[in-house]
Amino acid sequence: MNNNILELKNAHVRYGNIEALKGVDLHIAEAEIVALIGANGAGKSTLLKSIVGLEPLNEGEVTYNSEILNGVYPERDKKNISTPTDVIVKKGISLVPEGRGIFPEMTVKENLEMGAFLIKDKKLIEQRIEEKYEMFEILKDRRKQLAGSLSGGEQQMLAIARALMNSPKLLLLDEPALGLAPIIIQNIFQIITRINKESGVTILLVEQNARMALKISDRGYVLETGNIVMVDKSSNLLENPKVKAAYLGE
Ligand SMILES: Nc1ncnc2c1ncn2[C@@H]1O[C@H](COP(=O)(O)OP(=O)(O)OP(=O)(O)O)[C@@H](O)[C@H]1O
Ligand SMILES: [Mg+2]
Repeated sequence: MNNNILELKNAHVRYGNIEALKGVDLHIAEAEIVALIGANGAGKSTLLKSIVGLEPLNEGEVTYNSEILNGVYPERDKKNISTPTDVIVKKGISLVPEGRGIFPEMTVKENLEMGAFLIKDKKLIEQRIEEKYEMFEILKDRRKQLAGSLSGGEQQMLAIARALMNSPKLLLLDEPALGLAPIIIQNIFQIITRINKESGVTILLVEQNARMALKISDRGYVLETGNIVMVDKSSNLLENPKVKAAYLGE
């Protein structure tokens, strides 16, 4: 046992001839915020999807609290393991996908109710929704509005709020700042920090906005065409000349 909530060991994912992950090792300790940065097509979304079983591994292992969620082994004597996504969600991992994945034809409140699919107790669902309204005041004002008519920033907040409805222990965020104005991005990153500090949720944050992601995270990984090429404390990565040149535009 160790205090890692999540570990990827030698994770490979292939799409036909394309190898999107080429043997990724990554770990996240309980209560950490870890940033994963990398250019378009580096494999960031694939990595998040492989954690929740939305993309099957071709080789390697994903463990959650030292339990193997998915394991694919080339050795014949070791049995492969695969856990369905809904079971992984039940165990406490939530993904906010790239592009948010909200239901545009449903209201804000209905979207939040959909996020609570693991909870049977109606009162508890209402209570959780109220908690989300406290955290995201704008959603309370917009609760009867169709989600598709929200602004981009509001939709992102709804996507995050919805992912929190099942009270996950590990939250995976795929480019929450994408396409948003700087002031809204500030707001989203503040919320992510609060979710971590106040609720103790461990966070894996995928971002192309590397500066912001490294500023709010404890450690960071740099992914380049399917390989982890750097891992360090985020404060060190912010000062690293290679990171500065490639990802911080300095
Ligand atoms: N369903 C798929 N079928 C085939 N190839 C795919 C599929 N999904 C992703 N890929 C390829 O795998 C590689 C990694 O894609 P991925 O979406 O994980 O990158 P990313 O780092 O999230 O990029 P972005 O920053 O643009 O979101 C890319 O070359 C992409 O074209
Ligand atoms: Mg992506």
